[in-house]
Amino acid sequence: MSPTAFQKCIDPQCGATYSVDEILVACPRCGNLLDVQYDWEKMSPPKNLSHFEQYWSQRNIPQRFSGVWRFHELLPFTELENCLTVGEGQTILRESEGVARFTGMKSGNLFLQYEGMNPSGSFKDNGMVAATTHAKLVGAKSAACASTGNTSASLALYCSCIGWMKAIIFIGSGKIAYGKLSQALDYGAMTLQIHGDFDDAMARVKEVSKELGIYLVNSVNPFRLEGQKTIMFRILEALRWNVPDWIVVPGGNLGNSSAFGKAFHELKMLGLISKIPRLAVINAAGADTLYRLYEQEGIRWNGGSPDRTRINAFFEQMNRENRHASTIASAIEINRPVNLEKCLRALEWCDGVVRQVTDQQILDAKAQVGACGFGCEPASAASVAGTKVLREEGIIQPDERVVCVLTGHQLKDPTATVAYHSGDKQKFEETLAVRGVTQAEYANHPLQVENDVDDIIAAIREIDN
Ligand code: F0G
Repeated sequence: MSPTAFQKCIDPQCGATYSVDEILVACPRCGNLLDVQYDWEKMSPPKNLSHFEQYWSQRNIPQRFSGVWRFHELLPFTELENCLTVGEGQTILRESEGVARFTGMKSGNLFLQYEGMNPSGSFKDNGMVAATTHAKLVGAKSAACASTGNTSASLALYCSCIGWMKAIIFIGSGKIAYGKLSQALDYGAMTLQIHGDFDDAMARVKEVSKELGIYLVNSVNPFRLEGQKTIMFRILEALRWNVPDWIVVPGGNLGNSSAFGKAFHELKMLGLISKIPRLAVINAAGADTLYRLYEQEGIRWNGGSPDRTRINAFFEQMNRENRHASTIASAIEINRPVNLEKCLRALEWCDGVVRQVTDQQILDAKAQVGACGFGCEPASAASVAGTKVLREEGIIQPDERVVCVLTGHQLKDPTATVAYHSGDKQKFEETLAVRGVTQAEYANHPLQVENDVDDIIAAIREIDN
């Protein structure tokens, strides 16, 4: 592998380094998270971001077609020819007039980054292609993850495409949207439904993969986050290399926010951008660990010394109260985010803020995203709901440029969408009212009509009026 890349503990007091040939999901010395780092001085990183435009005309080379590997020089942990690809990262940044209006932004200043356009329908493919590339280099034969659905769909897809690695997925029982479960089953992954929630599945998969020597692809895997940096590179590319003022992203296990912070930190360090955008991480109110710790308890990365005593006390209290995450945005129904410290670091690098939004706010925002573009799954809409909150608070100014990352495809979770729009009282009660959602202000109800041409025509005329 690349002699100039290595793994390094994120704790500056430890700072232990390891070869990229090692399979690690935590620092063997102190237990903290690891980064993939590069000896940039021994490499020749690009001098400017327009450097990457030369690859636009090389789309016949699979790695140059990939929206991840066409930025290879910014994640060079192995040579380009070793990099696997299934064509991930063909995603789009769209300006949205309607969502700008909904969130209180000036027209032309609100952008949506549609990561649902990836092969498995979520942003996870950006990271999974990097993790499976690393898995191949270290000779892994099976890979596992705990998942709220999208990581498992992505792992299952990569394993079914590449053919030489078995996917083993751990999911909380009843905690996964059907679109995502159906993907894992269809792609042939071994699927284990654990009697518990995501946090339980995450704890078990760590134990089991260690015991059985299975390659773990959750976002504690530092190679995954290298791939996820490229979401930010594509946003810059779409904005003609101009840096937006804000990146707004939903927060679950906090891998994305961590990767985004690292991406901008590195770009700034390499002199490729002159400013770092501010980062807003949006929790669901029913899964708001980061919000509580960062905004209420005032916990900060603090140059690598976050107050671990208070963080531990927070989780101990959560245990005592037997508190479990609960939100309609099942993708981010997580109370014990594994990348907490990396995310705190990203918030420091990006002068970040954290907000929480209710399931009502999420579903209203989701209906607006759908009505004004390609749509998204509930968790993704947290970014739009959060932008509206930050705009109302005056933290985001109407003439700033804001990019909301839409992390997953609209078809991932049809249950929530149909319950919101259908007007079916029972569905609304069972799916939404139980979560405190009281209204569907932006619902687009289907009409019930007789099987009769005259009745159908009359109904259409009535709607037109
Ligand atoms: N949005 C979607 C659609 C997701 O699937 C996830 C995470 C997130 C946001 C949160 O991202 O974890 O990087 O903060 N889904 C994981 C999974 C946990 O298992 O699919 P994060």
